[in-house]
Amino acid sequence: MIAEKYAKEIEGILARFPSKKSAALPLMHLAQHEYGYMSPEAMREVAEILDLDPTHILSLSGFYSLYYEEPVGKYVLEICNDLACALRGADEFVEMATDKLGIPVDGTTEDGLFTIKTVMCLGACDRAPMLQCNLKFEEHLDEAKFDLLLERLRSEANTGSSDTAVPTKILSYAAKK
Ligand code: FES
Repeated sequence: MIAEKYAKEIEGILARFPSKKSAALPLMHLAQHEYGYMSPEAMREVAEILDLDPTHILSLSGFYSLYYEEPVGKYVLEICNDLACALRGADEFVEMATDKLGIPVDGTTEDGLFTIKTVMCLGACDRAPMLQCNLKFEEHLDEAKFDLLLERLRSEANTGSSDTAVPTKILSYAAKK
């Protein structure tokens, strides 16, 4: 349970907000990391910590593309294909990426490493094609850069390094005064 595993960090996160309810998003990131997605159990735990009804967490989870209601791969490649990015080749980039990984949009590779999703504008329209992977932007992409990104992520997965680990970012946020 995240309430026990991350007790100190959760305390740090709660201390940064005027009300418990406002801490929902970072706690959801922690829960999602713990369970791999926003499972019913993850939603219940966050709701319990924040004294909220689980349906509130469910509604947040449905609204934000960063929360997943189904299991996903270790690395979720969220490619923006909104209008501005589409004008700069995002649709072709999505096609290249899905072909390369052999999965459709919303699919996950057999090794459980990668999921591809398409998302609405991430606010980096001038740097398209771009994607977000575990809260980190990858910009000005082309096939060669995508190959390098996959190589880096595979190596990270093999070595257990945490460059793109979401909890690391959330927990460092909790530790800031
Ligand atoms: S349209 Fe893709 S980042 Fe804005």
